[in-house]
Amino acid sequence: MRRVNIDSIQVGVKLARTIFNSDGGVLLTKGVELKELYVEKLRNHGVSEVYLEDAISEGVYVKDVIHDQTRNEAVVLAKNTMTNYNFSSSLDVKNVKIMVNSIIDELLGNDDILYNLSEIKSVDDYTFEHSVNVCILSLITGIGLGFDITKLRELGTGAMLHDIGKLCIPQEILKKPSQLTVDEFEEIKKHTIFGYEILKKSEKVSLVSAYIAFGHHERFDGSGYPLQLKNENIQLCARIAAVADVYDALTSDRVYRKKLRPNEVYEYITSLGANHFDPRVIESFVKYVTIYPLGTGVLLNTRERALVIHHNKNLPTRPVIRIVYDDNMKKQTILREVDLSEQSNIFIVDGCEL
Ligand SMILES: [Fe+2]
Repeated sequence: MRRVNIDSIQVGVKLARTIFNSDGGVLLTKGVELKELYVEKLRNHGVSEVYLEDAISEGVYVKDVIHDQTRNEAVVLAKNTMTNYNFSSSLDVKNVKIMVNSIIDELLGNDDILYNLSEIKSVDDYTFEHSVNVCILSLITGIGLGFDITKLRELGTGAMLHDIGKLCIPQEILKKPSQLTVDEFEEIKKHTIFGYEILKKSEKVSLVSAYIAFGHHERFDGSGYPLQLKNENIQLCARIAAVADVYDALTSDRVYRKKLRPNEVYEYITSLGANHFDPRVIESFVKYVTIYPLGTGVLLNTRERALVIHHNKNLPTRPVIRIVYDDNMKKQTILREVDLSEQSNIFIVDGCEL
């Protein structure tokens, strides 16, 4: 299977993974042959990429770090928890905690955790999918840092609810497609404080979890908000959620901008934006998040284009690839496989569409 933009789908190819919406319903079932009508349905739901089965991706299997069903249930729960919250009462976090425990169990039961950006994202359901992704990415990072189970539970619960304070921000500001005014941005910043207050007054939410809502926009170099805290003055779980939040936001399409490729976001987090984040957190994060996801295209220094088919452990920039187009963009009839860990003169220049 491989991941393709829906604009380049050829009618008649088979869908390789079921696509759900945030209500838990199935948009399209795995195995269905795609027709123009189905592609239009996906487009209307804000889905821009899907996994397909085809000849060039034969034998490539892309697995999420948690089961599709668990992810789907978590997105539904995030939606229900946020949309049903009543400001006059405390937040019901019991089911969130049960869900976080399930996600932790699945992650810890995974021999080889590798976040492959394998989820199908939808612009329409962004808020809820984002909550789940920040939870998963934060937990993976926490596992890498050696957190015990209690700390992982606090981290996962806070990460899942990190943006709950956005319920207090007017929708017209949150969904504004153009650039925010200074006043509007000041308003958005308050979601950190509102979120902290909502979580703090909820029974059974630890202060560590509540502080993730407060501190996930603080930056290691003091350039964040709401308090411009620096370095270790920002609580560790909030420093972790900050990296997870930025990674997921930048790899997602938004109404006001297109997503970046995982390798571009990786580069931002590890170089351009590195001062914003705790180096220890980045070190753990990048160990478990792929730069070039399986089933996606890469451009080589030879100007050939290839599909990533297998990862080499500890060599994230040198996966095994299958050459699909030659340097003249001629599609290959015989697909040659190259293990980049054994080829020092061939390297990946960028991600690309195939
Ligand atoms: Fe936020």
